[in-house]
Amino acid sequence: MSKNHGISEAVIKRLPRYYRFLGELLKQNIERISSRSLAGKMKLTASQIRQDLNCFGGFGQQGYGYNVSELHREIGKILGVDKMFPTILLGAGNLGKAIAASINFSARGCNLIGIFDIDRELTGKVLAGMNIYHTDELESFCKQYKPTVAVLCTPKATTQATVEQLHNFGVTAFWNFSHYDLTPDYDNAVVENVHLGDSLQTLTYKMNVLSEKENI
Ligand code: NAI
Repeated sequence: MSKNHGISEAVIKRLPRYYRFLGELLKQNIERISSRSLAGKMKLTASQIRQDLNCFGGFGQQGYGYNVSELHREIGKILGVDKMFPTILLGAGNLGKAIAASINFSARGCNLIGIFDIDRELTGKVLAGMNIYHTDELESFCKQYKPTVAVLCTPKATTQATVEQLHNFGVTAFWNFSHYDLTPDYDNAVVENVHLGDSLQTLTYKMNVLSEKENI
C-alpha cells in the first residue's frame, strides 16, 4: 500500500478545501447540503465531489445529500485534525515569525510546542507565545517531547543536514519552506514542500495567456 493509501495526490489536495467550506457552512448553521449545491459553492461538479468522497467510502445519501457536521467531522478525521501532532518550527527569521504567528496549527491537527533558531541573539525571545530555543537544545527537547512534525523556515543550504538530524531525533513529517526540494529518503517520512513563489508564477502564467488572447 502506498503512503497515500492509494488515494491520488489531487484528491488529497482538495480535502482541506472541502473541510474549510464545510466548516463555513457549519458556522452558518447549515445542517444538510446536496452534492449539487456543495458543488455550486465550491465551483466543482457534483460528480467530482461524489467521486472524491467515494475514495473514502462515500458519505452522502441518495435523496438527502450530505449531513454537513458529519461530513466535516469525517473529513477532519481523514486529514488528522484530531491528532494534534507535536510540532516544532526551525528558523525564527522573517518567514518563521510570520508562520508561527499566523498559522492556526491546532485547527489543523498540529500542536506547535517549540521554536528553534541557531542565532543566539534570538534565544529566549518570545514568538507565538513561546520562548525561542537555541538549536543546541533540539536533541534533548526531542527526547523529552517527541515532536513528529517540523516546519522548516531555515536557509536552503542547511535543509538536508537539518532533516537528517531531525529524523534521527524521531521527526517524520517536514513542512518545508526552505526552497530546497526535499524528497523523502526514508520510508517512514513524509514531506510537503511549499513555494509561495510557484503560486505567483501560476498566476503570471495565466496573466500571460490572458494577455495573449486579448491581443489576438
Ligand atoms: P531569515 O534570514 O529572515 O531567517 C532564517 C532564520 O533561520 C534565521 O533566523 C537564522 O538564524 C535561522 N537559521 C539558520 N540556520 C538554521 C538552522 N540550521 N537551524 C535553525 N535555524 C537556523 O530568512 P527568511 O526570509 O525567514 O527565509 C527563510 C527561508 O525560507 C529561506 O530559505 C527562504 O528562501 C525561504 N522562503 C521560502 C518561501 C516559500 O514560499 N517557501 C517564502 C519566503 C522565504
